[in-house]
Amino acid sequence: MKKIVGFVGWRGLVGSVLLERIIKKKDFKNFKFVFFSTSQVGFNNLYLNNFFKNKFLKDAYNLEELKELDIILTCQGSAYTNQVYYKLRKCGWKGYWVDAASDLRMKDESIIILDPINREEIIKSLNKGIKTFVGGNCTVSLMLLALGGLFKNKLIEWISFSTYQAASGGGSGYILELLKQIIFLNKSLNKDFIASKSILEIEKNVTEISKKSNFPKKNSLVPLILNLIPWIDEDRNNGQSKEEWKMEFETNKILSLNKKDKISIDGTCVRVGSLRCHSQSFLIKLKKNINLLDIEQIIASDNKWVKIIPNNKKSSLENLTPLSVTGTLQIPVGRIRKLSIGNKYISAFSIGDQLLWGAAEPLRRMLNFLI
Ligand code: HSE
Repeated sequence: MKKIVGFVGWRGLVGSVLLERIIKKKDFKNFKFVFFSTSQVGFNNLYLNNFFKNKFLKDAYNLEELKELDIILTCQGSAYTNQVYYKLRKCGWKGYWVDAASDLRMKDESIIILDPINREEIIKSLNKGIKTFVGGNCTVSLMLLALGGLFKNKLIEWISFSTYQAASGGGSGYILELLKQIIFLNKSLNKDFIASKSILEIEKNVTEISKKSNFPKKNSLVPLILNLIPWIDEDRNNGQSKEEWKMEFETNKILSLNKKDKISIDGTCVRVGSLRCHSQSFLIKLKKNINLLDIEQIIASDNKWVKIIPNNKKSSLENLTPLSVTGTLQIPVGRIRKLSIGNKYISAFSIGDQLLWGAAEPLRRMLNFLI
């Protein structure tokens, strides 16, 4: 009999990308999907009916309905998870909970899913009876897919990173606000002024517009366009942001590394104005001196999505920008070179779509594991 999957949070940014993938890959044929809503209970969604033959949206807070499911797949966010997950487990529900939100990641009872990297761990945990599976932080997942070969071959002593994270990582509100900022600038700029003034006068004018109190910045707090935001997620009050903390914590959990083998990873996470691709620059200290061709070979052979981009200007501009990767599952890794500071130090630069490999794809693949 087909397993019954209850899908919650399928209208949001990650949920919509996941739904798109489920439809594209025809996964809906392998399961019986039931759609839930926190706000539109009873609505008949005509779009869903084209694929899933489910007439009405069910109540995402109704434990009796949820208890009937084999699998709950949620992209609804941490607030929903916290409100429903524990109650459901408490009343004896033994189904699989597959979650995009971060809250359950830190729990011992959960596995962070990224199967090209920790497939064996996922299988072991299924055999052990683990029932809670959580997608990783997007930046972490994208780093692991990019450098999986170096991690798996235990070649990394430590990594320092700088990220360039897309607006989408902050949610749809960030994307819409970025667009509103573009429109605000466009409306405020005067073509005749630009045509007649010196570049410094124009720059001053643009800066003044960006600093206006009514510039749209409800989500981002400061303008994202023509600017950047050097802090992502909460302040941990030790100088590190929560996003930066996740890099080391989640990586070591995904790789199941114990205290002795733990890899140190730290750096600075920054939001920039790209739409849905996160970029990351890595400074890596290897455990030994390995020649560059071997390093590239190790990185390239880890998974079928990773691709080495030759370290030259033309290839980098063509293949190593957010725009060249957006909407795809590719993980290009370029700018790989030995650094002048020592023969064990290399740099690398990687990009990935944070809504696909960074969020939706590991969840979709987990569903298929559960068949
Ligand atoms: N925390 C990420 C970001 C989102 O803010 O870009 C995906 O995990």
